[in-house]
Amino acid sequence: MSAEDLPAGAGLTARDPAFREDPDAVYDLLRARDPLHYDAAYGRRVLTRFEDARTVLRAREFGVDARKTLPESYMRRVAGTGVQEARGATAYEPPLVLLDDPAHRRIRGLMSKAFTPKAVAAMRPTIERLTREALEALPDAGEIDFIAAYAGPLPTRVIAAMMGLPDADWVDLKRWSDAILMGYDPEREAPVQQRLREAYLALSALFRDALAARRRVPQDDLISAMVRAQDEQDRLSDLEIISLCTQLLVAGNVTTTDLMGNGLHALLKHPAELARLRAEPALMPRAIDEILRYDCPLTETARIALADTVVSGCPIAKGETLTVALAAANHDPAAFAEPHRFSLDRDASAQLGFATGPHVCLGAPLARLEGEIGLQAFIEKFPALAPGRQSPRRRALPFFRGFESLPVWLA
Ligand code: HEM
Repeated sequence: MSAEDLPAGAGLTARDPAFREDPDAVYDLLRARDPLHYDAAYGRRVLTRFEDARTVLRAREFGVDARKTLPESYMRRVAGTGVQEARGATAYEPPLVLLDDPAHRRIRGLMSKAFTPKAVAAMRPTIERLTREALEALPDAGEIDFIAAYAGPLPTRVIAAMMGLPDADWVDLKRWSDAILMGYDPEREAPVQQRLREAYLALSALFRDALAARRRVPQDDLISAMVRAQDEQDRLSDLEIISLCTQLLVAGNVTTTDLMGNGLHALLKHPAELARLRAEPALMPRAIDEILRYDCPLTETARIALADTVVSGCPIAKGETLTVALAAANHDPAAFAEPHRFSLDRDASAQLGFATGPHVCLGAPLARLEGEIGLQAFIEKFPALAPGRQSPRRRALPFFRGFESLPVWLA
């Protein structure tokens, strides 16, 4: 097989059944044959080595602003929300993850003042309460879909609580968040794009109202903290706050669901590790790293060369899109021995599931906390847990690797 015959385009995404089933096999092939593989179908270069991934994610000569890339590149296909076109540029502010400096530095700095480790730690009792409620709503025995009944709703309810939105809104919030996620499908069709646009506009209206209400009567919540940051020196615009709220909802939603879903799936396939975790809950933080490494919820991210440059001897032209395959980097044998083995003995803390560098996941501490509490409580409550009779079904959406349904047998 020559480099030209390697998988390309949708064949390198979860739209392709073979990739969806076993991305490691595809990434191993790319890493061995062409580790900076040019994918002409999608106008991008796919990086599969750990060292290249880490270097590019940390380097300031690579940006994320889709407007700086070549017209036909992958980054433009996945970054469009359709809101810009519909309403004019003033109604849309790109999410933090698609902003370069100086805007990124300013907004991330302000956001970090509201989304602090203290604010996340203060969420522990709320996460524990919501987890308890979710467990109490489950039957004591029989088969359930772990995603629909447990791991799906929890992250939406947590972020809604953190923002001070009514718990009853979670169904709408999740529906809109899931619709916006479809923007990451480069092959999405017009009705999907339409639902995405409607979801954006619905969320903008909701956050605009929430913002006005917090300005009148400040609360002890994340939106009020953003309003306070707005009043300080560097000012956040209303549009920036709305965009941040939208991103916090979307970025932390299905990813955290998938952390729990992929984690439970891996543990059910490795019963000895599951038993160890039950016996020794202190292993949970280590388990979260190993889950993020072994089956990471965000399989890839993208960078744009801001100038002509070179990565591992390969010339990269200004404007070229690089796909940094986080899932491939996490299975690079040069970084992790026996990478396809799931083991709680491993120190997986170098895994790139939350990326690294200037855009490293802002919500990582919250995701870890939710994952630790959510998974631990579930495996403790159901000591006879086993895979369900129905097969799990993987999601066919690029970027976000997880289960559409994960049947499990409770007792
Ligand atoms: C297991 C769950 C999660 C995973 C695997 C994950 C993964 C990631 C990754 C890989 C990035 C970097 C993307 C890039 O470099 O291009 C990122 C960025 C981000 N994440 Fe997460 N995330 C998770 C949960 C969350 C949560 C719970 C929140 C907030 C509620 C959140 C908010 C963000 C934000 C705001 C950014 C953009 C940061 C920036 O561009 O400066 N994430 N996430």
